[in-house]
Amino acid sequence: MLDTRGFDLWADGYDASVGLSDEKNTYPFAGYKKVLGNIFRKIMEKQNAVVLDIGFGTGTLTSKLYEYGCTVYGQDFSQKMIESAMEKMPGAHLYQGDFSQGLVEPLNRQSYDFIVATYSLHHLTDGQKIAFLRTLLDRLKVGGRILIGDIAFATREELEKCRLAAGEEWDEEEIYFVADEWKDVFLSLYFEPVSHCADILTLAP
Ligand SMILES: C[S@@+](CC[C@H](N)C(=O)[O-])C[C@H]1O[C@@H](n2cnc3c(N)ncnc32)[C@H](O)[C@@H]1O
Repeated sequence: MLDTRGFDLWADGYDASVGLSDEKNTYPFAGYKKVLGNIFRKIMEKQNAVVLDIGFGTGTLTSKLYEYGCTVYGQDFSQKMIESAMEKMPGAHLYQGDFSQGLVEPLNRQSYDFIVATYSLHHLTDGQKIAFLRTLLDRLKVGGRILIGDIAFATREELEKCRLAAGEEWDEEEIYFVADEWKDVFLSLYFEPVSHCADILTLAP
């Protein structure tokens, strides 16, 4: 699992390496642009939304939202990622903190129209995901939604198929969403497939 330092080192080449995998339609980032684009469009349905981005990275999604009038909050543990995102959105409220320990205090005092997490929650175990998502649900404004874009599969069989095809590229340390294993966890959790290895997940209170 990449730690803060790993993500610091990845920050400069991140956008290019993600783009390459997406263009080739291969694991891990097949569907990446569509995932971010669809989430962007869902958020733009509300004018001037207040958005919290969990693991915002270089700010690819939230800097677009910022440009279009959203108020942006975010938490990431990589100083280099934060610097890169800050350049694109100097007025955003970006905090450094490990989300496996929950939200940093200033973010816990706000509420949000949307909480987004793209390609970040797979760094948590399923147990940690559930606990964290419960705390995030409490931070939503009335009518708010959590939108997750991530590597995900309909079934464990689909995941295994992708693992076989990916060979050495497969990351054993990441823990991906499997839709049919989550259907009883949050009744309002909805999976929308985007590519052979990516879904958008929507969760409302
Ligand atoms: C693969 S990148 C995704 C970045 C961006 N959301 C995107 O869609 O391109 C994962 C991001 O999550 C951050 N991250 C991973 N684990 C984290 C943790 N435990 N706490 C805070 N940030 C974390 C990394 O620093 C990195 O910026």
